[in-house]
Amino acid sequence: MKSHGTDFSYFNPKENELSDKTANIGVVGLAVMGSNLARNLASREGNTVAVYNRSHDKTEHLVSTHPEAGFISTSTYEEFAASLSQPRTAIIMVKAGRGTDAVIEELVKVFEPGDIIVDGGNALFTDTIRREKAVRETGINFVGMGVSGGEEGALLGPSIMPGGSDESWVTLGPILKSIAAIAEGEPCVTHIGHDGAGHFVKMVHNGIEYADMQLIAEAYDLIRRGTNKSPAEIADVFAEWNGGELESYLIEITAEVLRQVDADTNKPLVDIILDQAGAKGTGAWTVQTALDLGVPVSGIAEATFARSLSSHAEQRAVSRDLPGPAQALTVDDADSFIEDVRLALFASKIVAYSQGFDEIRAGASAYGWNIDLGAVSKIWRGGCIIRAQFLNRIADAYRDAVELPVLLTAPYFVEALGRAQDAWRRIVSISAAAGLPAPAFSSSLAYYDGLRAERLPAALIQGQRDFFGAHTYKRIDKEGTFHTLWSGDRTEIEAEDTH
Ligand code: 6PG
Repeated sequence: MKSHGTDFSYFNPKENELSDKTANIGVVGLAVMGSNLARNLASREGNTVAVYNRSHDKTEHLVSTHPEAGFISTSTYEEFAASLSQPRTAIIMVKAGRGTDAVIEELVKVFEPGDIIVDGGNALFTDTIRREKAVRETGINFVGMGVSGGEEGALLGPSIMPGGSDESWVTLGPILKSIAAIAEGEPCVTHIGHDGAGHFVKMVHNGIEYADMQLIAEAYDLIRRGTNKSPAEIADVFAEWNGGELESYLIEITAEVLRQVDADTNKPLVDIILDQAGAKGTGAWTVQTALDLGVPVSGIAEATFARSLSSHAEQRAVSRDLPGPAQALTVDDADSFIEDVRLALFASKIVAYSQGFDEIRAGASAYGWNIDLGAVSKIWRGGCIIRAQFLNRIADAYRDAVELPVLLTAPYFVEALGRAQDAWRRIVSISAAAGLPAPAFSSSLAYYDGLRAERLPAALIQGQRDFFGAHTYKRIDKEGTFHTLWSGDRTEIEAEDTH
């Protein structure tokens, strides 16, 4: 998790010598996401949008191809700042990393205290915390803002997760509400919390996205192998599932992808695409952060590792002849098998979301953010990649029990997990017996059973740790911390707690 240096020591607040300020919001960085967000902003009543891009060609292209937007085209940062009314508000939409720092440095030179710089990229939340701290010293507000929904979401209505100060939310709130997706009458945006809170929540959103996608992929694979249905036929299965409790954007687009036929070969496109999944890193951040916080996000981790495994072509090539079952599966009753897969998918999905919300809760407590988990689930109901019908149930769960320690213990999920139980176990057993990898299904089930277990073999681990490292242990029957004199007479002594 690298961070990038930012030095604002040269900062010198300027007099307001610039005139002709007519835009209430500006966008810096006009690649597809930035252009689409700028067009979305411009399409809403009351907004006038100033645009700036490092290479001015792109600015001119956007402005000339979208005259209806009434953009104010600017070619220097000075011009950009001069075109904005106060407090100046600019959304940076550049690839996360050094480019973000470079733009911030330029904006800080031309903005004044009270102005607002928003980073709408997929920044690492610790970078956002660092940037917020550095920019705050200049009196300018810095807001790290998660934006989900891809290119189409940016244009038509994304789910937006802003962090930053309360002061900046006063100005930003109405603007963001005007462009966000609407779910059940409510805009999909809320002030998540201070400094890096918005990017933290966006990071976990992406981790859940990885888990959701891997689970769907495992479900597809099992159905394909077990029933011999074609991708187009499996598309119908997903389309049907989308009418029920699994209703979600990812299930919907899965049907679209499975139906697609490759123009060159006339084969299903899914059979032509190389089976090596890419990743830009936000899933890995979610897992790395969870490890730091000590939160078990095993479903998300398995999904992230499954992508890594898929892309290790060399390792896969030399492992093809390893002993094991033939990786073939034939089921007698295709319909009931498909229903089992559906239930296994639903149960594992509940685990993934539960783990993600746990991580947000742990992050909020570690970083001092007051994050309303119910509000987070509500703003994910529309616009974002993981939008799903059952986010309403998550909102209900946190409404009924704000301090719920484990999301999946809420009554709705307990009922669903009870209903899915047997099918989930059958699917994990069948895939293990057939030698078919279903890492996210099986790790989710193992997590679930781990939570349920009255006793865990962690007791033995404590014994082992005490044996080789005198790491001590607690007892179930009395207070205190203990150590056994393993290399002595093996009597037990009271000891200092070393964890
Ligand atoms: C979103 C997505 C998006 C992300 C892509 C790529 O919420 O709109 O999460 O922000 O960049 O999904 O992610 P990977 O390349 O890591 O799959």
